[in-house]
Amino acid sequence: MKSTFIALGLAALIEQSYAFPAIAEEAVRIAAANAPEQKRQLVSPGFNAGLQYVSNKGAHKFVAPSKTDLRGPCPGLNAMANHNYIPHNGVATIDQFIKGTNYVFGMGLDLATFLATYGAVIDGDLTSWSIGGPPPASLTNGLGLLSQPQGISGSHNKYESDASPTRGDLYEYGNDYLLQMSQFKDLYNLQKGKTDAQSNYNLPLLTDFRAYRFQQSINDNPYFFNGPFTGVAVQPAAYTFIYRFMANHSAEYPEGRLSKSVLKSFFSITGPDNALKYVSRFALLVSS
Ligand code: HEM
Repeated sequence: MKSTFIALGLAALIEQSYAFPAIAEEAVRIAAANAPEQKRQLVSPGFNAGLQYVSNKGAHKFVAPSKTDLRGPCPGLNAMANHNYIPHNGVATIDQFIKGTNYVFGMGLDLATFLATYGAVIDGDLTSWSIGGPPPASLTNGLGLLSQPQGISGSHNKYESDASPTRGDLYEYGNDYLLQMSQFKDLYNLQKGKTDAQSNYNLPLLTDFRAYRFQQSINDNPYFFNGPFTGVAVQPAAYTFIYRFMANHSAEYPEGRLSKSVLKSFFSITGPDNALKYVSRFALLVSS
């Protein structure tokens, strides 16, 4: 019962998450608070190229993970590590996760604090945790609350859930962190026939995709489990985050537009529509 309340509270925080830097978010809050009641829903987040710019150059240019760098089921955290917004080795402290997600994606401090602390307690050593599998002894302060830290890849039904957007169900595929191309294609093809400029993976589209994936997991995974926290809060959040945090913001689309090319880039997919390839650092796997 308690975990259901926590999950519902968290779901409310996630509902309110928007992907633009916190300063712009604050401006929207002030504008919304000053707007007449009936107009509050209509206030646009606005766009400020200078304030909302997040660098992917210099110290933050993309550097592919080495064989020892940890990466896992979360494309947002993987990207942050690849661009040095959290340590490139994939193990970060609660503080680094909070500051990083807030600065890069504009995640609210309340939501980031909850998610980062939960990770440290459930998957880490109470102060830090791995965005992939178990960290080496040199990167952890010892035991966590439950056991040796396992990272979020080793967190099935504790943090990692079934029916994820692109990651396979653990008991169906034997791992919960690799992208399954069939699942990615099911999502990608929801904008089939559209050019990059026309495409937008928005919330209504992602809601339909989640319903489809949920039923697919029920049909194909004999051990499917929709946990009170993982199923009620984490899994829906993962779908919402795709649009809220990956979409590009511009003067034309201040709320954000998530194009085919940006979606592919976040999910480490290359190639044209008819020859998509997944490039993963796990055994430098390339699959189509
Ligand atoms: C401290 C903050 C964060 C934590 C603790 C976290 C944790 C996780 C975990 C445990 C999963 C696996 C869930 C599952 O099995 O479905 C996941 C998936 C995901 N996360 Fe994050 N995440 C964080 C921030 C972000 C950010 C900033 C983004 C922005 C893009 C993001 C996007 C996603 C997406 C799209 C998935 C689903 C991946 C897929 O199956 O295709 N997350 N995250």
